[in-house]
Amino acid sequence: MNPNVLEALIQALAISPDNVVLRVQVVEGLLRAGRAREAAEQAPPLMESTHQALAVLARAHAALEAGDRAQARELYAQAIRLEPARVDEGFEARLEPDDDPWRVPTIGEDPDAPQSVPVHPDRRDRITLADVGGMEPLKEQIRLKILYPFQQPHVYAAYGKKIGGGILMYGPPGCGKTYLARATAGELGARFYVVTLEEVLNMWMGQTEKQLHRLFETARGNAPAVLFIDEVDALGAKRSEIQSTHIRIMVSQFLVEMDGIAANNEKLLVLGATNVPWNVDPALRRPGRFDRVLFVPPPDLTAREEILKLHARGRKIADNIPWRKIAENTELFSGADLSALVELATEGALAEALRSGRMHDVTPQDFTTAAKTLKPSTVEWLRRAKNYVTYSNADGSYDDVAQYLSQIKMR
Ligand SMILES: Nc1ncnc2c1ncn2[C@@H]1O[C@H](COP(=O)(O)OP(=O)(O)O)[C@@H](O)[C@H]1O
Ligand SMILES: [Mg+2]
Repeated sequence: MNPNVLEALIQALAISPDNVVLRVQVVEGLLRAGRAREAAEQAPPLMESTHQALAVLARAHAALEAGDRAQARELYAQAIRLEPARVDEGFEARLEPDDDPWRVPTIGEDPDAPQSVPVHPDRRDRITLADVGGMEPLKEQIRLKILYPFQQPHVYAAYGKKIGGGILMYGPPGCGKTYLARATAGELGARFYVVTLEEVLNMWMGQTEKQLHRLFETARGNAPAVLFIDEVDALGAKRSEIQSTHIRIMVSQFLVEMDGIAANNEKLLVLGATNVPWNVDPALRRPGRFDRVLFVPPPDLTAREEILKLHARGRKIADNIPWRKIAENTELFSGADLSALVELATEGALAEALRSGRMHDVTPQDFTTAAKTLKPSTVEWLRRAKNYVTYSNADGSYDDVAQYLSQIKMR
């Protein structure tokens, strides 16, 4: 965000302190500008809104700036639990301890604290499958493997189909894996447990197997349930590549838990997501573990149009935006890229409104201008994937990707 725009927004907020949308923009803008303390000062009113996660995130940034890394980590984990889409890899990297990462918890930290919370169905910012653009084949899998079994277990029983198992989603970043999982949680309610491996790994070194077991136990106790493990590569990293005995033990523990589900028909579904499938231990893909592996490609033309419109909802946008044409010109854009495009076009119009004192709708021109500054972020991933497809697809794991790559033009 242009610094002048940010200053203007801050002034506007001082005049209309109850404007939540404006406050969100200010806090996000300040965070992006690295002004963590000010962001945290502006954030508290958001605790009462649907943007609680952002308020907590601002506190995490401020804590890190103040040098309290442990506190920052805890707050960050809390923010991500509230809203997984707030994941910020850059910030996560800064949370890494510079000392021994395998430290044991110090006094005052509770190693038995639960590592995951169910996502509450009554949260006002809950999203559902209707908020997810495109992704039809994936949604169908989610319905068949997750939603219907929970809603109509007798039908599955009648056909002798067991409920549960594992689904692994993989694909370029920003294409909706976490978002889709969140939407599934929105449909299912309290029986959806989220865990980020970052969290388990970082927080309770030395206790991870115990934590992992506890997590599966909790989910089992509430079966049927879904356990969502984001960035599963952190856990399932190829055992040959990991040095630490500690992680190796943990991976084994994870495999034990997965096999337990398969053997006992426990009505527990483990949903995993990763941007780096080539780092996932092949052992995780055996039958009974993640036996359904789904490629989540960048959105196609229709999906892009849908996603653009979804993100434009509730904004002051002209009704003559050529959505189809924008979708045509944004090949290989991820869902996150498209969301950024709408964001940028809106910022342009907002800046103009603040300058002129007249509020007008976001115009097609705002979109054209914004589109010029953005590039698809999936290309790098697709290039990498192409190597894997070419050189290490002997077992056909990446057939879906190969098929996809043969259909697109990479610039
Ligand atoms: N199919 C989609 N429909 C609507 N928004 C999407 C879609 N895919 C991605 N997005 C937007 O992009 C953001 C990032 O997506 P995310 O699920 O975090 O990507 P991934 O987990 O695959 O890296 C989401 O928070 C959402 O705003
Ligand atoms: Mg993700």
